[in-house]
Amino acid sequence: MNAPLNVVVLAAGKGTRMKSALPKVLHPLAGRPLLAHVLAAADSLRPERICVVYGHGGEALPTAIGRADILWVRQEPQLGTGHAVQQAAPHLDPAAVVLILYGDVPLTRPETLQEMVLIAREGAIALLTVRLADPSGYGRIVRNARGQVERIVEHKDASPEELAINEVNTGILCLPAGKLMGWLTRLTNGNAQSEYYLTDVIGMAAAEGERILPCHPAAEWEVLGVNSRQQLAELERVYQRNIAESLLAQGVTLLDPARLDVRGTLECGRDVVIDVGCIFEGRVKLGDGAKVGAYSMLKDVEVAEGVEILPFCHIEGTRIGRAARIGPYARLRPGTDLDAETHIGNFVEIKNSQVGFNSKINHLSYVGDAYVGRKVNIGAGTITCNYDGANKHRTVIEDEAFIGSDSQLVAPVTVGRGATLGAGTTLTRDAPPGELTLSRVRQFTIPGWQRPKKTVKGEG
Ligand code: UD1
Ligand code: CA
Repeated sequence: MNAPLNVVVLAAGKGTRMKSALPKVLHPLAGRPLLAHVLAAADSLRPERICVVYGHGGEALPTAIGRADILWVRQEPQLGTGHAVQQAAPHLDPAAVVLILYGDVPLTRPETLQEMVLIAREGAIALLTVRLADPSGYGRIVRNARGQVERIVEHKDASPEELAINEVNTGILCLPAGKLMGWLTRLTNGNAQSEYYLTDVIGMAAAEGERILPCHPAAEWEVLGVNSRQQLAELERVYQRNIAESLLAQGVTLLDPARLDVRGTLECGRDVVIDVGCIFEGRVKLGDGAKVGAYSMLKDVEVAEGVEILPFCHIEGTRIGRAARIGPYARLRPGTDLDAETHIGNFVEIKNSQVGFNSKINHLSYVGDAYVGRKVNIGAGTITCNYDGANKHRTVIEDEAFIGSDSQLVAPVTVGRGATLGAGTTLTRDAPPGELTLSRVRQFTIPGWQRPKKTVKGEG
């Protein structure tokens, strides 16, 4: 039977170089805290327990992450990585294998971690190492004459020969909990930083003849940590490039894979085309053949097949039906539900409204808290006056109605099926079906009227 898996995430460190009031691991990468990425990788391994060691930033961390299934262990003061794991030890199952992760190393692939868990389940110690062109700052992996891992020496404690080693400790390791607990009790802080180093566990294990198997990430970015805004920005680009590559591989056209940002999940059908500068947040689904124009922002949106979104649209909490055409410059707010073949044009704002099949709102309108039927035409500059200063009211526009330009519909109000409103109507009572309703002052002309003339100085 497989040993259970316990994950310990170290996240107590300060993150001074971020120069921020926000704890480092709460800084967002692709719209989610760094720590949330690490927890997602942990979750994918289906661990029995996840324990997060926190300290700097205090309760802000558990509060922001808000997960009751996690064991939050406070480390105060922070006396090193070994001391951090000592705080977690009483909460671990001695029969488990323990995977140690860092809260500021967000992009480790689950496959890499899974391989390490398998090794530890066979009783060995899996240590994630990598060779770096510039290993400075990192702990170095010291191997014996037979190439076996003997110990880890921290940069600040290393001899010149050891500093020349370019294989470094990533900090990520996986090992049987029972053995780890024994070694943790023997850690001392007699080193350059007066810290309890978790890395000393490796030396103890080697001395006892334990098998230590170095594992390596498929790509260097898997083990890169965030210590500065610069590194955070670099990892954001790595993350976005990975998403773009996977979309291209699925058959999505990206006019420039370097100019796409996905901060959530983006699901695409066949032959989707995404122009440059688009941002996708939350859960976005794009149906077959959908096109998204340049510099559009979509958050929690479901787009059916054949929809065309023209450039510069801002769309949130909206469902868009088949073959609809949106924008340019449309703003669709939460609760918008557009049926198939609708046309929503420039400078149109829609909120909490249903718009029926093939209806058109092409220019400069505000439609809020409305039900719009099928084949309705809403003229330029139409406004639903949904708010009386205290309450919101609904507007109903039935099938095939025609709303003349520059009309105001003062809700609650209904425009009947097939009704026509003359341009400039201020509708305060229901418009009957099939009839023309207008509320316009009759046009008149004053014959012979003269424009006033400018008075010239000296005259009069
Ligand atoms: C550590 C490793 C080093 C490795 C490097 C990789 C040790 C002694 N050294 O060094 O071999 O090459 O990571 O980045 O383990 N943390 C706590 N509590 C503490 C101290 C740290 O939770 O008391 C957390 C930090 O928040 C961070 C992680 O542990 O997520 C690593 O801490 P950091 O100070 O960055 O370790 P390094 O000294 O860089
Ligand atoms: Ca570090």
